[in-house]
Amino acid sequence: MGRIILTGDRPTGRLHLGHYVGSLRRRVELQEEGNYDRMFVFIADVQALTDNAANPEKVRQNLIEVALDYLSVGLDPEKVTLFIQSMIPELTELTVYYMNLVSVGRLQRNPTVKSELQMRNFGQGVPVGFFTYPISQAADITFCKATTVPVGEDQEPMLEQCREIVRRFNQTYGEVLVEPQIMLPENAACLRLPGLDGNAKMSKSLGNCIYLSDPAKEVETKIKSAYTDPSHLHVEDPGHVEGNVVFTYMDAFATDDDFAEFWPDYKCLDEVKEHYRRGGLGDMKCKKFLTKVINSRLEPIRARRKEFEQDIPEVYNILKKGSEAAREVAAKTLSEVKAAMRINYFDDEQLIREQAERFREKK
Ligand code: TRP
Repeated sequence: MGRIILTGDRPTGRLHLGHYVGSLRRRVELQEEGNYDRMFVFIADVQALTDNAANPEKVRQNLIEVALDYLSVGLDPEKVTLFIQSMIPELTELTVYYMNLVSVGRLQRNPTVKSELQMRNFGQGVPVGFFTYPISQAADITFCKATTVPVGEDQEPMLEQCREIVRRFNQTYGEVLVEPQIMLPENAACLRLPGLDGNAKMSKSLGNCIYLSDPAKEVETKIKSAYTDPSHLHVEDPGHVEGNVVFTYMDAFATDDDFAEFWPDYKCLDEVKEHYRRGGLGDMKCKKFLTKVINSRLEPIRARRKEFEQDIPEVYNILKKGSEAAREVAAKTLSEVKAAMRINYFDDEQLIREQAERFREKK
């Protein structure tokens, strides 16, 4: 069995640095390593609609933003199949069959669903589609028999739920589906990038993001406002690097080469941390360096985005072609699924012969 990589994002906003260090950067590396049979990256518009049913325009507007973010970080449609979830009706069909293999109680225990339900304050009005989206996500992952799913750590419960569905399906109907493995970021700072305000998560709803498409000036302004160490009042005071957003971002982004290029007073991040802890190093200097590092990462991304923005019809065309290609794969898996579930009535000649025999009038 070869390696099949799949991942995706909800189009509910532009993608930000949390997405970048948590997953996008790794995707491009995986793409370039080429160590896979096939790689899929998709825009989960159906999932986005599960809690935005009344707001389809938001999903529609953000779909193109996410597509531009994908292309601008360097995902290459020649190497990766880029597609839109809603364009693959087979996914919906798989979801319905998988629904029979999952209990309501199990969905209620899914930690990600639990915390999202709390955050969204649905009260008694939880949409069924939202509640069951982990099942739909299992269809997203299994339609191409994905082996490897690079995502952030918040997706771990989704992967576990998917694996359970796969095991249950295979036990019940025969070996058709493949259990996927999660691929988490290696760097601890990248597992969950905090927001500019020090909140544990960078998130659009918290308004604490640096977006991939932010102009350089805006990145500078945002980093200036970033949460550091509230007890580090004077430059001479000793400071803390733990829980200090500027240092966490440096952990996620800065390399030794960045020090050589932008801050030759230090050889590496450890030296800076030591100085900061000891006292005598001000936040502004750290923030200036961080701004240079982040802007140097974002610069090529912005440049590519500009190019694709000038050819939006081509962006839709890329998604259309990718969706057609993904659909072929989905149709094949769906037909295997239906055969295993014994609901492939019309392509099963043996069934037709057997039934004909059973009902034939005995002479
Ligand atoms: N749940 C993911 C998110 O919120 C998006 C997603 C949907 C996904 N289906 C997926 C990710 C399948 C990986 C694999 O970002």
